[in-house]
Amino acid sequence: MVTRSLVRVLFIYAGAHSVTITVTNNCEYPIWPGVLTSPPQPQLSNTGFDLASKASTSIDVPAPWNGRFWARTGCSTDGSGRFTCATADCGSGQVSCNGNGGATPASLVEFEIVANGGQDFYDISLVDGFNLPVSLAPQGGTGDCTAPSCAANVNAACPADLQVKGSDGNVISCKSACIAFGQPQYCCNGDCCNTPEKCPPTDYSRFFKSQCPQAYSYAFDDPTSLFSCFGGPNYSITFCP
Ligand SMILES: *[C@@H]1O[C@H](CO)[C@@H](O)[C@H](O)[C@H]1NC(C)=O
Repeated sequence: MVTRSLVRVLFIYAGAHSVTITVTNNCEYPIWPGVLTSPPQPQLSNTGFDLASKASTSIDVPAPWNGRFWARTGCSTDGSGRFTCATADCGSGQVSCNGNGGATPASLVEFEIVANGGQDFYDISLVDGFNLPVSLAPQGGTGDCTAPSCAANVNAACPADLQVKGSDGNVISCKSACIAFGQPQYCCNGDCCNTPEKCPPTDYSRFFKSQCPQAYSYAFDDPTSLFSCFGGPNYSITFCP
């Protein structure tokens, strides 16, 4: 009996691996990444942090883990001590997001990381719009393990009806058509539009696809946007790759 329970303990221990996600800021300006864990898992101890230009931070996530990363830009603390950001603000009033997601528009990096070296899925999503360029690379896995990149400055090409402008008049983020207009043919919801067959690409989603061919341009863009890797890789996220 002792032997059997020892084997069991060793098996559980070996299965509970953690995955290192390294976030690098290659932008010429500071950014404030946010991390949101999907239910039912609890939030990580780190839900948001500042990252100076050219700096990196590594976060260990327990596998399995589902969640997303994004980055806030144009952040500052006001006279009353409240922290807010021009893009992708998480509404916490702090650098930590404490279980809140980022406001749209925001470029997202999404993970479904499994335990025991099974098949992870990951993507870059512009379904909620774009705020800054980002790339994602698995490190040390096996299988396809494509490293998708959305390096284009989508803000510079953003159609007028999707633009979000900052206080200086420059375009600071670019809404998706779903975020801008909320209509089912763009959001792929409702009886008219809730399957891939009933929700084909639109001129708006084609704009995002032409800018970033490896990122989700709308909800049913899986074939060219969702990637997988086996073997428990680590991941590296680079903003402004
Ligand atoms: C992931 O990174 C950790 C160090 O943080 C390292 O020990 C481990 O070997 C890496 N895993 C892979 C698959 O490269």
